Amino acid sequence: MAAKLIQQGVCRLGLRTRLFSSARRIQHDNPLGLPRRPDRAPQLPRRGGLIQKRPIPHVKKVLAVASGKGGVGKSTVAVNLAFSLAMLKPESLGRRMRVGILDLDIFGPSVPMLMGLQRTDEPPLTSAGAILPVTNHGIPTMSMGYLLPKSESGSREDAAVVWRGLMVQKAVQQLLFDVDWRDAGHGPGLDILVVDLPPGTGDVQLTLGQLVVVDGAVIVSTPQDVALADVRRGISMFRKVSVPVTGTVLNQSYFVCPSCVTPHYVFGSPTAFRTIATSLNVPVLGELPLVKGVSTGGDGGVPYILTASKEQADEDSAGGAVWRNVMQEMAGDVWRALEER
Ligand SMILES: Nc1ncnc2c1ncn2[C@@H]1O[C@H](COP(=O)(O)OP(=O)(O)O)[C@@H](O)[C@H]1O
Ligand SMILES: [Mg+2]
Repeated sequence: MAAKLIQQGVCRLGLRTRLFSSARRIQHDNPLGLPRRPDRAPQLPRRGGLIQKRPIPHVKKVLAVASGKGGVGKSTVAVNLAFSLAMLKPESLGRRMRVGILDLDIFGPSVPMLMGLQRTDEPPLTSAGAILPVTNHGIPTMSMGYLLPKSESGSREDAAVVWRGLMVQKAVQQLLFDVDWRDAGHGPGLDILVVDLPPGTGDVQLTLGQLVVVDGAVIVSTPQDVALADVRRGISMFRKVSVPVTGTVLNQSYFVCPSCVTPHYVFGSPTAFRTIATSLNVPVLGELPLVKGVSTGGDGGVPYILTASKEQADEDSAGGAVWRNVMQEMAGDVWRALEER
């Protein structure tokens, strides 16, 4: 009943709902079950043909956040960086920036949880058949996580995408070209779209790099050798598809205990990371400490950069303040690099 009422309301707004969760047969060339549109997403050529990169509709700059390994804090950095960028007011624009987040981690989407949007309804479609983003804390987002069927309890935590490579590639194409990033389908679009990528150098990264004009990439790593080994691979992949690497971030670099100000390098010294970045000629954008509030904020759907409670600040002591400063400085550096392009 409620679903019907929502559907009627949505129709009055000129919007339509998708049938993803109720569609029994998902087509391979249309995994998100979107209506056919005349301006179809660009296709990857079948055999070595020339690929034409295209801009994402209504998006000025695209920033990818990537890592070689999972669990290094890529999604956490992507989301907090998006908010830090949205807080900037560059002179050249004379206003705050409009920023969106696209979660391309098809098999392990975490943007819904980090944004407190796990229980959101399926996003509606515009009358032209494009998906409308879901907004929280003032930032529009899109994720495979919103398109999965809900269980009876209203959660999507148990839902899993079980797709082969071709389906993933098509879903990525639809998420890139069939989302309308304008406010409710009209008005100006985004200044920056932050794209949270899955770990590694697979189909999703290649599809993005080959089909879209990506203006910058931030590579996230942790100090352990096993994560650092993948930094080189990530940088080399982006260079192959002509995506400029904006810089690297060392996350979970150290811990500042509440009773002191000395950094404790719990996962090892940052020297190896700095050496790799220098040898590859990639700037180090920042070294972020391990902070309890960053993790609890993410689990609770409120990005740490937005939390300002005194209790949290006391608990996180010096580490929390450093984390915020580094994140904000990173946003300034990233914007300057994107603007120069
Ligand atoms: N600097 C940090 N301090 C504390 N916890 C962190 C930090 N960075 C990430 N985390 C936590 O580490 C876990 C993995 O982070 P996530 O962003 O999901 O990684 P990825 O996207 O690379 O898989 C999450 O629980 C997150 O809250
Ligand atoms: Mg992630």
